[in-house]
Order: sequence, then structure tokens, then C-alpha cells
Amino acid sequence: MPMRHLRHLWSIIAYSWRAIGPRRIATRLLAYSTDAAARGADSEFDARFGTDTTTGLTPAEAALPADRRRGATMYLPSMDDDLDAMLAALAWPDEQIRRATFIDVGSGKGRALFLAAMRPFRATRGVELSPVLHAIAERNLAIMRQHRALAAPIELELGDATALTVPTGPLIVYLYHPFREPIAAQLVDRIVAAVAARPRPTAILYGHPTLQRPLDEDVFCRGGLFRRQHAGARVTRNFRIGWSIWSNQDWLADVPGPTAALRRSA
Ligand SMILES: C[S@@+](CC[C@H](N)C(=O)[O-])C[C@H]1O[C@@H](n2cnc3c(N)ncnc32)[C@H](O)[C@@H]1O
Repeated sequence: MPMRHLRHLWSIIAYSWRAIGPRRIATRLLAYSTDAAARGADSEFDARFGTDTTTGLTPAEAALPADRRRGATMYLPSMDDDLDAMLAALAWPDEQIRRATFIDVGSGKGRALFLAAMRPFRATRGVELSPVLHAIAERNLAIMRQHRALAAPIELELGDATALTVPTGPLIVYLYHPFREPIAAQLVDRIVAAVAARPRPTAILYGHPTLQRPLDEDVFCRGGLFRRQHAGARVTRNFRIGWSIWSNQDWLADVPGPTAALRRSA
């Protein structure tokens, strides 16, 4: 086996040991290793566009800053169908999508962002902390542009989720389990502050992977703005891979001020 494969294997073992603990590795690894769909090793996107989005990278391989590695999850791409299912459940009308910004926080190599940008969003943005993944995403974006497959403008940003600049207008924030509670809580606080200052339809789409504990519901309910609007799951041979949608639809209905159209469309 070539040296770089051995190094990758070692990095995955060290990461999994820390992320899910030795007991879960022991009890779930067999189920996981015999379930290709659960591992999300879906390479159709790359086969179609010639991009590089499939191979996972641990926080160490992705050269995340040392003080952020522990709270971060490893890079794994979203399954195309999961994002489709979440956007379908959210069911925002096209007119609202055209006014909305989609942000993938922890955008990695860009796959989910590219999938979103195939829809007519006003803008799409990926925020990624890893310079290694950011550089790969930039190369992938150049390839996607050659295919002319994107309907929305895309911006790739090298930055930390806790410093997110929240744009104006309707907003969809996509999180494919990028980090654990402390970072997620800081991010939600930023979103809540921005949306409370300028009320508009906002949704957080959260997908979580197979073996790690999902983020606590309390994280999304901080500040009393978001409530769970939908939940779903992709069922594979041995797992249920869940997702949830947190929106401010109910909160917005009680806010004096926003137009009736805003309230209706949220
Ligand atoms: C599971 S991957 C998701 C990739 C992508 N969103 C997708 O769905 O295809 C999580 C990503 O979050 C990034 N990440 C971790 N901590 C971060 C932080 N504090 N700020 C921004 N990105 C972060 C990781 O480097 C990794 O690329």
C-alpha cells in the first residue's frame, strides 16, 4: 500500500477514535463498513462533472488551525439526494428562492454549494476554514463554470463559521454536521442576532452523518427564533441518516412590521 494511503488510513483511525470513541468504533464499524450507502461514498457528482469532491479528509489532513481541530468534523461530501430532500421539504416558492442567499457553512470541496447553485438563488456562498479544502473548491468551481451548470452566483470564502457575515434578505444556512456544539452555538447566535435585527424568512438545514452524535436541538433553539419545521432521514441497510430543518416561520408570524407577503411566504 502506498505511503500516502497508509497516512490517510492512520489519520482516519486517529480522527474516529477521538470523534466517536473506541466503544462505538468497535460496535458500529462492521455495520458501517458493510453499508456503502451509509458511508456516503457517492461519486456520481464527480463522474458527471470531473470534479474532486468525493474523498474524505480529516481535520489534520485539511490543515485546520490546531485550536479548531477538536471541535471540527472531517470533510465528507453531502449526498446529493439529502440536499434535494431538504430543499423539497422546505418548499420555498421560486419567487422566494430568487431573493434568497444559500450559505454552506463548512463547504469543504464545494459539492453541496454547487448543487444549490444549480437553483436560481440570488446568491450562494461557501465558508470553509481549511485552506486545503478551499483551494480544492476553487479548482472545482472553475470546472463547474466550464460546464455552465450553475444558475446562481457563487462566492467561496476562506473563513471561520464563528465570524460569519450574515447577508440581508431571505436566508438558507446549510450545515452538514461541520462542527460540534460550541462552534455551532456561536454560529446560531450570530444568525439569530442578524435576523432579529432585520426579520426575514430564514432556515437552517442540518444534515448529520451516521456515527457521530447529532447536534443537540437546544443549539438551534437558542434565542427562541427557530423551531424544528421538518425532520427526515435516509434509510440505508444498517442506519437512519437524519436531517432536520429549523426555521423562523412561527416567530416571523408574530413579528409586527414585516409585510404580510413576508409572513405568508416564510
Ligand atoms: C462534513 S464536511 C461538509 C462538506 C460540505 N458542506 C458538503 O456538504 O459537501 C464539514 C466541513 O466543515 C469544515 N469546518 C469545520 N470547522 C469549521 C469552522 N469552524 N468554520 C468553517 N468550516 C469548518 C470542515 O473543514 C469540513 O470541510
